[in-house]
Amino acid sequence: MAIYYAACTLGLEDVLAEDLRRLGAGNIEKRKGACQFESEPPVAYAACLWARAAIRVQEELVRGRAEDKDDLYHLAGTVDWSQSITAKQTLAIDGSVKNSFANDTRYPVLVVKDAICDQFRSRTGIRPDVARERPHLPIKLVLQGGEAILYRELGGEPLHKRGYRLIQHKSPLNEATAAGLLQLTDWDRRAPLCDPMCGSATFLIEAAWLATDRAPGLGRSFAFEHWRDTDQAAWQQIYDDAEARAARGQDRLPVLRGNDRHPGALGIAEKALAGAGLTGKIELTRGDARDFTPPPDLGVVVTNPPYGERLEQDVERLEESWRHLGNFLHERCRGATAYVLSGDPDLPRFLGLRASNRFPVRNGPIDCRWLRYEVGTG
Ligand SMILES: C[S@@+](CC[C@H](N)C(=O)[O-])C[C@H]1O[C@@H](n2cnc3c(N)ncnc32)[C@H](O)[C@@H]1O
Repeated sequence: MAIYYAACTLGLEDVLAEDLRRLGAGNIEKRKGACQFESEPPVAYAACLWARAAIRVQEELVRGRAEDKDDLYHLAGTVDWSQSITAKQTLAIDGSVKNSFANDTRYPVLVVKDAICDQFRSRTGIRPDVARERPHLPIKLVLQGGEAILYRELGGEPLHKRGYRLIQHKSPLNEATAAGLLQLTDWDRRAPLCDPMCGSATFLIEAAWLATDRAPGLGRSFAFEHWRDTDQAAWQQIYDDAEARAARGQDRLPVLRGNDRHPGALGIAEKALAGAGLTGKIELTRGDARDFTPPPDLGVVVTNPPYGERLEQDVERLEESWRHLGNFLHERCRGATAYVLSGDPDLPRFLGLRASNRFPVRNGPIDCRWLRYEVGTG
């Protein structure tokens, strides 16, 4: 059994905890923007592959007193690093420091690096190199008060990097956040769903993968695949099973339709659809949301309209976007449920609807609300 720590966007802890529970994690404890859990390693591999809202999964390697540099050096030396990598592989250490003997992360990170490299050198005569890009062993040091914790990060690249987005939209939604928001809705994963302001189509792609039982991590690599103590047979089985489930789920793709008024955004969306293996399977149209035709028998609308913080649009234009979204919902989505992500307390009133639920979530640096509306039939 090991202790793991899975990080997510603030507000999605319940969604993450539920995914982890289903994957077999034990003793799940919710924290702010994270869940801690205990399990055998294969559950943590599965979490990297399947936990849609997770951004990182880290394994705790050691925790102990670190009042000064010598304590930290000693603590890092108690871990047998050769269980993770050989001296010919690479590592990277990232740190966070609060109220500790060091003012910033640079010095303690160097101390940990020295402890690891000295351990390898004394045993084998050579030491692993540090690599900024794609290290085999990404290590995280947390130094808080007089205590240090060392983790190894299973994913390497953050888990929201599914691999389908090669070009960034101006204000894209993090893929893991989009997936978590979808999991917060009551969408049954069969009813038609649309996004009238889809930008780079993150909601639509994540919705497609959710509905077709495609693991979000399928097709990408993970740091733990390079570790010496990884149970490769168990991992292969988890991966094969995910491939089989994705193949079986293909014909469960519901009708998904997106729209945006910006041709550049749609170009990026098309490329993302291609990267996600969804070309031709999700219809995208260009135009104002007010004129967008949702699919017949619409169940759910999900969308992330602009709210100004990052797009620097003028206020009138923002208000107009929200008013047009309101027109679309009133005139074309009767009987459906709509979920709208807002990072602004004033703009939602331009929809002319009363929210039936509000989930607080964080989108990057912005405190947002995931607002639920039942679009009346009257
Ligand atoms: C915050 S971005 C959406 C980002 C998207 N969720 C993603 O993951 O890329 C807002 C999008 O709304 C679009 N938009 C704003 N007003 C619109 C309108 N009236 N009709 C259609 N699209 C609009 C913008 O072009 C932009 O792509």
